[in-house]
Amino acid sequence: MGSPTDGHPPGDAGEGGIPPLLSLRHVTKVYGSGGAAVRALDGIDLDVQPGEFVAITGASGSGKSTAMSILGCLEVPSAGEYFIEGYPVQDLSADVLAALRNARFGFVFQQFNLLTRTSALENVGMPLVYGGVGARERARRAAGALAVVGLAGREAARTNELSGGEQQRVAIARAIVNGPEIVLADEPTGNLDSKRGAEIMRLLASLNRDDRITVIMVTHDAGCAAYASRQVVFSDGKVVTDGRA
Ligand SMILES: Nc1ncnc2c1ncn2[C@@H]1O[C@H](COP(=O)(O)OP(=O)(O)OP(=O)(O)O)[C@@H](O)[C@H]1O
Ligand SMILES: [Mg+2]
Repeated sequence: MGSPTDGHPPGDAGEGGIPPLLSLRHVTKVYGSGGAAVRALDGIDLDVQPGEFVAITGASGSGKSTAMSILGCLEVPSAGEYFIEGYPVQDLSADVLAALRNARFGFVFQQFNLLTRTSALENVGMPLVYGGVGARERARRAAGALAVVGLAGREAARTNELSGGEQQRVAIARAIVNGPEIVLADEPTGNLDSKRGAEIMRLLASLNRDDRITVIMVTHDAGCAAYASRQVVFSDGKVVTDGRA
């Protein structure tokens, strides 16, 4: 993203004064207004360093998905600041923000959000269509991403011909096809049985370990959270625990 900013040092700069990869500073998010206002996030601070694998847990409604939306530049805070490598995200235009989101983040959700009667190869290549990548290159990169998630040979399979675990693998391939530095996964195993869930966890762990992708994952499952090297617990829009294994 260029050179470090003047002013605005977010949080604790690491060794050599390098700012965190991602930094939420006193971030509050309020939905609605007046008596109907919901304070989804209530002044949270969260720094994520490059290469971390962070698990976020906490009760339903504690603000986990809201935090993920802000981290992924899908939503903006109501108050507080969000820095990416020290840059204040709130100062960026909508266009720059969208470009940043597409270039640096991959998203994985509980619902796999795949097009149903479309092949795995086409689903995975979809983000590249928006990036203006030609058909041949799209197919080449999508096949590469499918190989990474263990689905080489299934390029032509349509979504309705794949199991839940396979569909989530396709969704993960789609998330990494752009070569993102950060993968944000919100309940990636929520619709899977424990065996398929464990496979997805091993896949995310290998993306983190072998491909140096920073992974931030929301989960309700303590077993899934244990794959991460850092456990963050939310309660009522606040971070109540933040610990490294
Ligand atoms: N778009 C929205 N409009 C209004 N309220 C919202 C919106 N999104 C979230 N909320 C509210 O904000 C609070 C936090 O929601 P959020 O989705 O972040 O929780 P969560 O921790 O992800 O919960 P879950 O584990 O059930 O997914 C909840 O009270 C929710 O109802
Ligand atoms: Mg949620």
